[in-house]
Amino acid sequence: MKILGIEHIAIATKDLEQDSSFWSDILGINYLGKEIVENEGVVTDIYNTDQGKVELLAEYGEESPITKFLEKRGSGLHHVCLEVEDIHKAVKELKSKGIQLISDKPTIGAEGYQIVFIHPKSAGGVLVELCQKQKQNK
Ligand code: CO
Repeated sequence: MKILGIEHIAIATKDLEQDSSFWSDILGINYLGKEIVENEGVVTDIYNTDQGKVELLAEYGEESPITKFLEKRGSGLHHVCLEVEDIHKAVKELKSKGIQLISDKPTIGAEGYQIVFIHPKSAGGVLVELCQKQKQNK
């Protein structure tokens, strides 16, 4: 499996508007825009440093995983996303090594990337997302 870099870190928040000023005004990171990812139950504000993004995640819809996360842990780091060259290869390799994934099949996340999540149990307590930008390969 080839890891190309850290694509983004994602931070769960109760209030996108309230948290935005730290990232955009204080740190001056370029705001890329807002995106609703309905199948993941999130609305995200994306900031781009040009060397990795910061995504603020808030709950969207009835059964948002962010709601549960906020109840349990409050606002804070939610996951880290690594970009891979070939997500299907990565899934195969991880499964062959006994790594627990949240789901085996890549879904479409923010910005149209293919994504899967590795269970924190298998990743030192951190929720790790893998993404692949291009849509080729099967
Ligand atoms: Co993410």
